[in-house]
Amino acid sequence: MISYRNQLRASDFGSDFLWGVAISALQNEGAWNVDGKGLSNWDVFARKVGKIKGGVRPVIANDFYYRYKDDLMLVKALGFKVFRFSIAWSRILPEGMGRVNKEGLAFYHRLIDECLLLGLRPYVTLYHWDLPYELEKQGGWSSHQMQKWFTRYVKLCTDEFGDKVKDWIILNEPMGFTSLGYMLGKHAPGKTNLSMFMSAVHNAALCQAEGGRIVRAEVANAHIGTCFSCSEVLPYTDKPEDVLAAKRADALLNRLFIEPALGRGYPDDPDFPFLEKLHLHNKAWKYKDRMQFNFDFIGIQNYFALTVKYSPIIPYLHATEVKASTRKVPHTALGWEINAESFYRMIRRFWHYGGVKEIIVTEGGAAFKDVLNNGIINDDRRIDYFNQYIAAVLKAKKEGVNVNGYFAWTLTDNFEWAEGFNAKFGLVHVDIKTQLRTIKNSGYWFRDFLKT
Ligand code: NOJ
Repeated sequence: MISYRNQLRASDFGSDFLWGVAISALQNEGAWNVDGKGLSNWDVFARKVGKIKGGVRPVIANDFYYRYKDDLMLVKALGFKVFRFSIAWSRILPEGMGRVNKEGLAFYHRLIDECLLLGLRPYVTLYHWDLPYELEKQGGWSSHQMQKWFTRYVKLCTDEFGDKVKDWIILNEPMGFTSLGYMLGKHAPGKTNLSMFMSAVHNAALCQAEGGRIVRAEVANAHIGTCFSCSEVLPYTDKPEDVLAAKRADALLNRLFIEPALGRGYPDDPDFPFLEKLHLHNKAWKYKDRMQFNFDFIGIQNYFALTVKYSPIIPYLHATEVKASTRKVPHTALGWEINAESFYRMIRRFWHYGGVKEIIVTEGGAAFKDVLNNGIINDDRRIDYFNQYIAAVLKAKKEGVNVNGYFAWTLTDNFEWAEGFNAKFGLVHVDIKTQLRTIKNSGYWFRDFLKT
C-alpha cells in the first residue's frame, strides 16, 4: 500500500520537478459569446435537454475570462510554478477556419503575459474538447477535413504565441472526446455512431502527430507533449471470458493513441474487434508514419482504476464495468475507484513502452462532496487522495521513471462537462452564483507541501 500521509516533501522530487495546476477553456472561461467568440460544439450541446446534469450551461462557468488575474494570483499564492490552460479555438477562429478574431487572440496574450509576469510557466493545451460549432456541423472529428482545419488553427496559435510559450500540449485525452462524443453520445456532439467514432479516432491520431510537427517547425526550443487518459483494467474474475474482456477494454482505453504516436500503428490484437475497422483506415500501415511523432513528453491522466467482466450485450467490446461501489472499494463522489498503486503501475507501464522520453502527470485530482462551513472546506479526503497519488509518482521516480511533473486538476471548481457544476474537483471552492472563491483545505495543504 502507498500511504505516506504527511511524510512527503516536495524537495524529494528534486528542484526541477514541475508542480502545476490545470484548467481548460470551456470549463472555466464563460464569456461564451462575447468579444467576437464563435459558438463551440459544447455551447450548442449543453442546450439539449437532459444532456447536462441540472440543465446548466457553461455560459459564465467560473468567469475565468474576466477573473483570470485573480485566479492566477491564487495559483501563485498556492505556490505552483506551472499553469496549464487551453485555447478556445472558437474564440480565435469563430467559424473554425477563415476569419481571425483579434479580440480572442488579445485575451490569450493578456493571459500568457500575466502568467509570465507572475513567474508562472504557461503550458498551453491546443485542444481540450471544445470545437468550433461550424466545424462540428461538418462532421467535426469524424470529417477527413479535420487535419486541414487543425493545421490552420495550430499555425495561428504558434504564430501568435510561439515567442512566449514553449510548452505545448497537442490534444487532451483523445480517447475521451472521441468515445464520449461520437460513440457514447455523452459529450458534444452527442453522437452514437461507431463509424463516426472510428473516423474520429483516426483523424485525432493523425492530428496529434501533425500538430506536434507544426509546433516543432514553428516554435524554437519547444517542449511538446500530448495527454492521454489511462486506467488500469482488471478482470473481475480469472475466468477466461473476463480476462479477455479486460484485455479488450485495455486496448481501447489505454493503447489506442499512445501506440500510433510511438510509431507502432494501432494496437495489433486479434481479440480486439474494433481494430479490424481501424485497420481499414490504416490500410496496410500506410498511415503508420504519419501518426508517429517524437514527443518530448507524454502527459498521463489517471482518474480511476477499472474492473470489468464479460458482457454479451455490449457490442464489439463485450465488457462491462463492475462498479467500485459494488466491489466496496474506496471511490470518489463520481464513483471512480481510488487506487494509487494502480496509478503507479500505469506510470511504469507508459514509461516502459520505450520511446517515451519524459512523463508529466498533466492532470490528477478527485471530486468529493465539499461542505462549506463558516468559510472553511475541510476536504480531508482530497488531501488524502493527493498524498497517495503524489507518493505513487515519487515511488516511480525513485525507481528511475523520468516523471517530471504533477499538475493538480483543478484550480477552481468548474463546469465538469455532462456532470455540470456538481462534480467538484477544485483546490478552490467557487460559489457559482456569487463567483466567490474560497481556498479549500486541500489548497492550503498543497501550499504547505510545496514549501517542504
Ligand atoms: C479529464 C479532463 O481532461 C478534464 O477536462 C476533466 O474535468 C477531468 N478529466 C475530470 O473528469
